[in-house]
Amino acid sequence: MARSMGRSMGRWMGRWRIRSWAGAVTWPTLRWVVMAPGDHPETAEATGGGSGPGSAAPSHWVRWHESYEDPASPLSLRLRLVQSMVRDVLDSVPPEHPGPIRIVSLCAGQGRDVIDVVSTHPRGSDVSALLVELDPELAPSARDRAAAAGVADQVRIVEGDASLCRWYQDSVPADLVLVCGVFGNISRSDLTRTIQALPGFCWMGSEVIWTRHRRPPDATPFVRAQFADAGFEEVAFEAPDGYVLAVGRHRLVAEPPAGAFDPEAKLFDFVGDGALPA
Ligand SMILES: C[S@@+](CC[C@H](N)C(=O)[O-])C[C@H]1O[C@@H](n2cnc3c(N)ncnc32)[C@H](O)[C@@H]1O
Repeated sequence: MARSMGRSMGRWMGRWRIRSWAGAVTWPTLRWVVMAPGDHPETAEATGGGSGPGSAAPSHWVRWHESYEDPASPLSLRLRLVQSMVRDVLDSVPPEHPGPIRIVSLCAGQGRDVIDVVSTHPRGSDVSALLVELDPELAPSARDRAAAAGVADQVRIVEGDASLCRWYQDSVPADLVLVCGVFGNISRSDLTRTIQALPGFCWMGSEVIWTRHRRPPDATPFVRAQFADAGFEEVAFEAPDGYVLAVGRHRLVAEPPAGAFDPEAKLFDFVGDGALPA
């Protein structure tokens, strides 16, 4: 049975009425599965990860994304969980929401979590999303994906270092921030810095969706405590038995402090490209 901490939130919070997180996720029979590949070093090494600069071979991260082609992979399960939460957030935005529904995604990869939902959701045309991805193959492939899905006008993909807050200057406060595939690849101090900076990306009521593997020592209790410390409440935490993946959803429940967003800040160094423990 999956552990889920979804809560009913039928009350006004921040800028819109929050609907309950119904956990509309069905769980497969758990027979296999150990982990979402690439969120930690051994998986990357097992797949020969880490092609060097100038290499003609696809980068480690390009190969990491190949697991999305297998609907039975842990990564595909993780994607469905994230997409279900993104969909739920869009469902909860009231029609009178002022301006575009803003989404920001750090280290967005192919952008499947945002693009595939925005292109199919009734509120998709109201979305203005910014996806930041460093890999020179993945960023264009996310752009192609957005164009093929007909949402190139809603989803902007920047090829750049997502740790630099200046990218988000014109896109925050966002209604939804995605930090997926990041927390397993940065140091604990960077993790703390990133979570403490997230209120600066938000309005009161904005949500953050994040992922982290639970390979021992499981860092997700630390991540969840950091969110609480930064003024977020937990809406959901999905950690299916038999998998090491976990997906969290947090909502900012206080006004962000004045000046919380620092466009000069650098949040993290990515150390998880298959070479170093994160
Ligand atoms: C584990 S993958 C997650 C991708 C995507 N968020 C997902 O969940 O499918 C990590 C991604 O971070 C990207 N990345 C690594 N360092 C980055 C940086 N400094 N800025 C932006 N993207 C970065 C990698 O290229 C890779 O696509």
